[in-house]
Amino acid sequence: MFKTSEQIHQYYLEKTKQLSNDSYKILKTDIDNEVYNSPNIANNIKGDVFLLEYNINLVRHSNIKKNLINGDIRYLPYKNNTFDLIIDLSTIDHVPETIQVINEYNRVLKKNGTILIFVWCGNTKNEKEWNPSNQYYINLDEFINCANTYFTTLELNAVYAGEPRWPVPKNHYLYEFIGVKK
Ligand SMILES: C[S@@+](CC[C@H](N)C(=O)[O-])C[C@H]1O[C@@H](n2cnc3c(N)ncnc32)[C@H](O)[C@@H]1O
Repeated sequence: MFKTSEQIHQYYLEKTKQLSNDSYKILKTDIDNEVYNSPNIANNIKGDVFLLEYNINLVRHSNIKKNLINGDIRYLPYKNNTFDLIIDLSTIDHVPETIQVINEYNRVLKKNGTILIFVWCGNTKNEKEWNPSNQYYINLDEFINCANTYFTTLELNAVYAGEPRWPVPKNHYLYEFIGVKK
């Protein structure tokens, strides 16, 4: 289990590097990592990377010139079967419509394509609960059921439990999900 946000960001880079490939068309949701956090994922992985970000100010103030769209993971502005790899580093847990987002990821992912999702999940009874960091916690079983509608699970690990400066409820973790489209 990683102890700091620096470690988890480094892990993001390792995993995305492992899964990327020169011949791939890749969707990475949100540009927070590219604008604020080191390391920059999009610049350091192989393949043709397409970036999508909901926050128009972040889009305007970023200096990303190529393949960046101001958009919403709930309504992806891409054609069916476009991508070989989708990378969602804790974007899906910023909206309550988990099923809608998973449907969209399935739609734009090619058959046998790979999906990497880092998501805050827990055993909370409510489907999702707000926390002070403007983040949802998704019920783990519900997330897995939803993801397994379209994706076979290759990996599921709890990787991070937050830090004292950013308290996370007991039994809630950042999970890493890797799946392949059925
Ligand atoms: C806290 S950041 C995740 C940061 C980063 N990927 C990481 O793990 O460190 C959430 C990002 O998702 C973006 N976001 C929120 N809702 C979104 C949506 N519906 N579609 C696309 N991006 C969204 C936010 O603007 C923000 O850039």
